[in-house]
Amino acid sequence: MEHAVETTLTVNGTKVTRRVEPRVHLVDFLREELGLTGSHIGCEHGVCGACTVRVNGEIVRGCLMLAVQADGCAVDTIEGLSDSKELAALQKAFHEHNAFQCGFCTPAMLIAALDLIRKNRTADREAIRAHMSGNYCRCTGYQAIVDAIESVIGK
Ligand code: FES
Ligand code: FES
Repeated sequence: MEHAVETTLTVNGTKVTRRVEPRVHLVDFLREELGLTGSHIGCEHGVCGACTVRVNGEIVRGCLMLAVQADGCAVDTIEGLSDSKELAALQKAFHEHNAFQCGFCTPAMLIAALDLIRKNRTADREAIRAHMSGNYCRCTGYQAIVDAIESVIGK
């Protein structure tokens, strides 16, 4: 770890400090260093959205941000957002609407959907589709995902 940089971030409410190589992406750091494997890696090019996490309250692509760039930041992953019950209504809706099959995209879908619900409580189906367009799903055809999010927004 010749070029490792001391990096401190708060992950799901817990402060962690590690020496990190500057080339390590945030999602790799979360998965490999902290064992938080709910954040997935698909394309590693910022296209599929599978690596979505929240940094200082905003959703980011974990494959486009370096771990060292998150120094001093608060990072929320699917694990923390599930434990805190912040995602409970969306998780229930995804389950009820069969909005996942293999589940690979689901953690990031939930985090992106939560971001929409926090910002736009009146989003219609078109706005939901636009907001979720950065998250790819190979299984569902998206209809059920939009249905699930719409049902939570409507409550
Ligand atoms: S793995 Fe990050 S956008 Fe696809
Ligand atoms: S449920 Fe399989 S990729 Fe979305």
